[in-house]
Amino acid sequence: MPDARLTKLSRSIAGHTAIVTGAAAGIGRATAHLLADEGCRVVVADREPGVERVAEEIGQVHGADRAIAVVADIASPGSPADLVDAAVRGTGRLDIVVNNAGIGLPTALTQPEADYATGWERTVAVNLTAPARLVRAAAVHLARSPAGRVVNVASSESALATAGISAYSATKAGLTGMTRSLAVELGPQGTTVNCICPGPIDTAMTAHIPAADKATYARRRTALRRYGTPEEIAQMIVSLCLPAAAFTTGATLFVDGGLTIRG
Ligand code: NAI
Repeated sequence: MPDARLTKLSRSIAGHTAIVTGAAAGIGRATAHLLADEGCRVVVADREPGVERVAEEIGQVHGADRAIAVVADIASPGSPADLVDAAVRGTGRLDIVVNNAGIGLPTALTQPEADYATGWERTVAVNLTAPARLVRAAAVHLARSPAGRVVNVASSESALATAGISAYSATKAGLTGMTRSLAVELGPQGTTVNCICPGPIDTAMTAHIPAADKATYARRRTALRRYGTPEEIAQMIVSLCLPAAAFTTGATLFVDGGLTIRG
């Protein structure tokens, strides 16, 4: 009896292990929850101790063995390797890395030299150097996975321009280039590397913007005329992590409600 199903690729990540950085809040927290909902064991990392609460939330829904919290500054040189160790020691494998932690410190040319230098160096360390180190530490383990996946979280700002945040724009554009290069480097081992560029999303990062200004911006600039939710980004991140997404690599996907298509 021939198999009547045409489709062969799995949409299940049950039993896979994922690292999510910046998982104490916002997009990272939503992504960690969704990965766990889909059956993953998640290692949630953040510099904020609130990440322990996220691990507890996941544990309450799915069982205590499904989430490991690591409180660490991902920009410390040893942190990425420690995170990979925690995943492999705790679960015996590593399949998915989501480089989500990010900061947007101001880097206006008019800032005092010390502030400008700190803003620039810290933004590069968190948004660009840490993801590179994490992929480097994870690569050998991802090679053993049946579906090794890296998803980098950049920003619509990688393709747009706002005065006073050149370090943020540069690191997010840099992340799209790094994604392409790593996709070529890790392609032979079957690991895919992709990049999601969120548009305006309701999280702590945009909490300082008054609600009325957000509504006006969204109405004028996005096709969908609204801010997005953390879960709407998480859903696309997790889609790229499925075994079925095996032929998508080096891609940059804008999940921005139609912000960038409007220019
Ligand atoms: P968020 O501020 O709610 O979450 C970011 C998390 O990263 C925080 O929990 C923070 O503690 C953590 N983090 C920052 N630096 C860290 C470090 N050195 N070590 C460990 N953890 C660190 O912000 P959101 O919006 O959830 O941001 C997630 C990602 O999405 C970031 O990379 C951001 O640049 C990107 N993004 C967000 C947009 C938005 O409108 N909210 C738009 C475009 C991109």
